[in-house]
Amino acid sequence: MTDRGIERGLTQYGDRGFSRYLRTAFAKSMGYSDAELAKPIVGIANTYSEFNNCHRGLKELGEAVKRGVWQAGGLPLEFPTISLGEPYLHPTSMLFRNLMAMDTEEMIRAQPIDAVVLMGGCDKTVPAQLMGAASAGIPASLLVAGPMMTGSFDGERLGACTDCRRLWGEYRGGRIDEPGIRRIESSLATTSGTCMVMGTASTMACLTETLGMMLPGGAAIPAVHADRLRHAEATGRNAVAMAAQGPTPEGVMTAGAFENAARVLLAIGGSTNAVIHLTAVAGRLGVAIEPGFFDRLSEETPLLVNLKPSGIHYMEDLHNAGGLPVVLQELKPKLHLDCMTVTGRTLGEVLGEPYTYPEWQDVVARVSAPLQEKGGLVVLGGNLCPDGAVLKRSAATPELMQHEGRAVVFRNLEELADRIDDPQLDVTPEDVLVLKNAGPRGAPGMPESGYLPIPKKLAKQGVKDMVRISDARMSGTAFGTIVLHIDPEAAVGGLLGVVESGDRIRLDVAGRKLELLVDDAELLRRRANRDAAPPPPVRGYLRLHQEQVQQAHLGCDLAFLRPEIKQTLR
Ligand code: FES
Repeated sequence: MTDRGIERGLTQYGDRGFSRYLRTAFAKSMGYSDAELAKPIVGIANTYSEFNNCHRGLKELGEAVKRGVWQAGGLPLEFPTISLGEPYLHPTSMLFRNLMAMDTEEMIRAQPIDAVVLMGGCDKTVPAQLMGAASAGIPASLLVAGPMMTGSFDGERLGACTDCRRLWGEYRGGRIDEPGIRRIESSLATTSGTCMVMGTASTMACLTETLGMMLPGGAAIPAVHADRLRHAEATGRNAVAMAAQGPTPEGVMTAGAFENAARVLLAIGGSTNAVIHLTAVAGRLGVAIEPGFFDRLSEETPLLVNLKPSGIHYMEDLHNAGGLPVVLQELKPKLHLDCMTVTGRTLGEVLGEPYTYPEWQDVVARVSAPLQEKGGLVVLGGNLCPDGAVLKRSAATPELMQHEGRAVVFRNLEELADRIDDPQLDVTPEDVLVLKNAGPRGAPGMPESGYLPIPKKLAKQGVKDMVRISDARMSGTAFGTIVLHIDPEAAVGGLLGVVESGDRIRLDVAGRKLELLVDDAELLRRRANRDAAPPPPVRGYLRLHQEQVQQAHLGCDLAFLRPEIKQTLR
């Protein structure tokens, strides 16, 4: 018996011959000949869904992958997995990332697949697929939907979702009227594809390419560009080669590859969410990434990519400038070039020689003349976040990076929604807005609510930014002086849970500290009086999540899915 192709992992009836015969009989019901069924099988996990606008183009892209598989002598078999469309999921897509990772892992392993192409794109889908592939251990490569093209509003170029948030802020401040915001609503997302700024989807696409889990140049190709179809076809061809000779995800995603990805995250001004996702994917392969690792790399990695929300351009501009390979070329002396990629060649071989910097563009800066000397993210410590918290300095207001203010506390998301626009809210621009119970377990699912809106009465005065802190996440497309992922979260006993309105809070980015300035005796009293945790949900995936979800510094994975740690990046 072979363990390849259609005979791989036979269904258990206690009679191998019968299992083979029955599977072949049913496969033949789809019209496949013996010659087709003798080929290596490339599974194609297609996350097309009508609840996922970002994946609208995946049907056509899936056909291009199949063309490539057939060209190279394989049999492509497409199958569905969970699809996570960011704005459609309640309470938040992050709650389901681990569920999608489990679905992906189990379906790769259970079905007769020699190599798999994972088609995703929208924020949580790519990390979920990387996590699932890492655990399944079968040769896998990623193909993303690609970014949307930009839209236009009264002559202004628009992109989701940095401009969504900026213009919504203008609307809340009364500077855009109701008909205006309705017209903008139709102009922000006008093609298939993922958000076209350096949000989480674009960031994870760039990190996947850096990790070596995607064919070179694939991260930035717009969803509707013919190059993406050619890239999909090449991905299909390459998957057939992978079915024969690998590499497996474990051979590609090594500690060195994760260091490369963390460095690129900083150089591209990538999403804070990627800190959690990268940590989760690495954890699946026994590689721990400590929060301080990102901070250390950030100090020695310049910001090179001029994309929103840190800069001015969009993903299609990055593609036109040469895509991620230009960034990798600039960072080459700092990268581990011996890391294997899905091409069967090392990163160093893929980048090759010689390289001529494209002088005509201003999307990717030279390492010798960076946009900023240091990377986009900082990791904080201090009594409010002993296990870490993240701030995206490249999208923050410089004057607020050293700040002390009075806390204005919202106990949970419901209270935030009820009170933030209350004209009676006691708040000034110098205050620190605090949101509790929005972490992995408290919310649950750690929603992207860390981008607390500026209270309407301050927005109307023209206030654009304030220090805001929470145990939540933030969309990678957002901007502001926002401290996220406070760890441990309020719901598991973090100090955040006992902050009260009127307390003083100090943000010291230079000193990497976020401190609650309340004396120890008072904190002890508050801790003793804090409310008991709410009872766990009684059934279903939510119960599993609440019992198993880990804190941000461990990637918010489910504890039982993370193997023993063999290596630590610090
Ligand atoms: Fe899918 Fe932004 S909504 S990437």
